[in-house]
Amino acid sequence: MTLVSAPRFERHKMLPQPSHDEQSRQAFVKSFRGHLASKVVPGNYLAYEHRARHRFEREQGHAPRDRHDIRRAMEADPYYQFWSAMQRRSQELMWEAVIDPTEREWSQLIEQSREAAASRPTRRSRAKQLQGSLELDPTLAIPRYHAAVDIHLQPGGYHTDFIEDDVAAGAIYDRALNIYLNGALGPRNALMGEMLAEYFASRWPEHKPRRILDMGCAIGNSTLPWAAQYPHAEVHAIDVGAPVLRYAHARAVTLGVPVHFSQQNAEQTRYDNGSFDLIVSHIMLHETSKTALTRIMTECFRLLAPGGLMLHLEIPRGTSALEQFLFNWESYNNNETFGAYMTDVDLPAIARLAGFAAPELVRHRVERAPEQQLYSNETIWNILLARR
Ligand SMILES: C[S@@+](CC[C@H](N)C(=O)[O-])C[C@H]1O[C@@H](n2cnc3c(N)ncnc32)[C@H](O)[C@@H]1O
Repeated sequence: MTLVSAPRFERHKMLPQPSHDEQSRQAFVKSFRGHLASKVVPGNYLAYEHRARHRFEREQGHAPRDRHDIRRAMEADPYYQFWSAMQRRSQELMWEAVIDPTEREWSQLIEQSREAAASRPTRRSRAKQLQGSLELDPTLAIPRYHAAVDIHLQPGGYHTDFIEDDVAAGAIYDRALNIYLNGALGPRNALMGEMLAEYFASRWPEHKPRRILDMGCAIGNSTLPWAAQYPHAEVHAIDVGAPVLRYAHARAVTLGVPVHFSQQNAEQTRYDNGSFDLIVSHIMLHETSKTALTRIMTECFRLLAPGGLMLHLEIPRGTSALEQFLFNWESYNNNETFGAYMTDVDLPAIARLAGFAAPELVRHRVERAPEQQLYSNETIWNILLARR
């Protein structure tokens, strides 16, 4: 098995410190996933071309026509079954490897997050807007698309408080994201925010946002690059999950980045009309629902001031039908229930219905150094963007 080297993960104060054995278990899972992605996944292409496709054709009297036919063909194939079982097991192992150290440091992490939430702005930090804030809403209804399943098999998803003032979902997500993507998001899991902020600055260099909203921020990993790129802007970040937000706030305080975190549903927030001149999200839309998508677009339209922009970054969903089928493995086997629907959805049409005049779906091609490669040395991201 190839040991894959990735940039070192930054050990900030909110990250549980694994023991020696836990650390090697985490390293194993990361490497295992890297091995599956680089060495085992490609075999699916051979299994399809040389076996599954022909068998399907013999049995059905026609070649597979789309990703649904390919799924029928591949689910009966032993190579695919082998990879799929390994992939699923790697996901389960990943949670097991990050939960143990989190449980050991649970009360200490909660204490740190309470301290961060209680800290008051000093005169100096107020003047420089250095503090950030945390606002929770215990009455917020968790949308069914999160309450009904443990998304990505994460026990309790992003929103479950197992104990009072819980932060575990955040601590677990922070470490697991690095393992899940084999370190591709960099030492602070910040690559998606950095990439979108870079894209935004190069396309609209004259647009210097003063109020930014990040929707579906989880632990704020993609939010912080926006605060770094626009230090004079007031940055807000929302999520439905209380434990990820507590963690996000404490993490941002630890890292010295001021962000205002609050527990709100992106479908209907408490902000006033025209509150923001930039709204962003990073891989949130595919974890919602058909109804929620429409409502979120309508809410973005309401929240943007005239001339304001929205940019929603989404994961690639594959170009060929076979790739689409493989990308949608997550939907059928990893509780990412809405993801597959995103393969066919017309996002600009939904944004248009919400009132945006000329929404675009940009296929953003990004080349990264080997240690930051996600699926290959070139990744194509989808960005839904529109101006109010
Ligand atoms: C895959 S995570 C992405 C987290 C983060 N943006 C990142 O870049 O890693 C999706 C996040 O969106 C949040 N989310 C999903 N639907 C939401 C909604 N309707 N309102 C607010 N947050 C939502 C989830 O709770 C979760 O934390």
